[in-house]
Amino acid sequence: MNWEECYRTGNTPWDKAAPAPEIEYALREGLLKGNVLVPGCGRGHDVRAIAAAGALHVVGLDLAPSAVLEAQSENNPENAFFQQADLFNTPSEFKERFDWVWEHTCFCAISPEDRVNYVSAVKSVLRPGGKLLALFFLDPGLDNPSEGPPFGTNKLELDACFSDAFTLEREWLPRATYPGREGRELVRLLRRH
Ligand SMILES: C[S@@+](CC[C@H](N)C(=O)[O-])C[C@H]1O[C@@H](n2cnc3c(N)ncnc32)[C@H](O)[C@@H]1O
Repeated sequence: MNWEECYRTGNTPWDKAAPAPEIEYALREGLLKGNVLVPGCGRGHDVRAIAAAGALHVVGLDLAPSAVLEAQSENNPENAFFQQADLFNTPSEFKERFDWVWEHTCFCAISPEDRVNYVSAVKSVLRPGGKLLALFFLDPGLDNPSEGPPFGTNKLELDACFSDAFTLEREWLPRATYPGREGRELVRLLRRH
């Protein structure tokens, strides 16, 4: 998938021009505080929402330079930052720097073979005891699931991917979603070992 090309040509159907609706509920519960990383942040809607709610530093990371440039050109809170980088090759200063990672449509964007690398990358940027709050896209609704992205997943697969490095603390159905994603997502709160 050529993400840069998608942003350059404006072919970004996943971008709803607003943060994931579940974020508002998570923030009201006091989640996503301190230093927060948002991998695959796209144009940064989630980063701005988390930063505006009072996290210390929120870093949005994306592979696509155009996504990062567009995110940086928005009216961003002072505690919101954006960096162009590959999640699978993060800068060394990211190591164990974050208290939280917010996952939203990055896990489903990468190839399923890279999920093991996703788990390693998220583990490496979180401090021990740090938390991953993830809105997983279970069912993108493709006739042929191997034709993603987005690539769907399921609870058993998530258990297998994350259980060596994370403890599942809670899971719930999103309290709000983008229109059309109802019943197709799952939220998990995972603590890094
Ligand atoms: C489906 S889009 C979602 C963007 C954003 N979360 C949203 O909902 O608008 C997936 C994003 O992940 C980024 N991405 C894909 N692979 C990545 C990688 N290895 N490292 C960092 N970002 C990546 C893409 O550039 C793209 O912006």
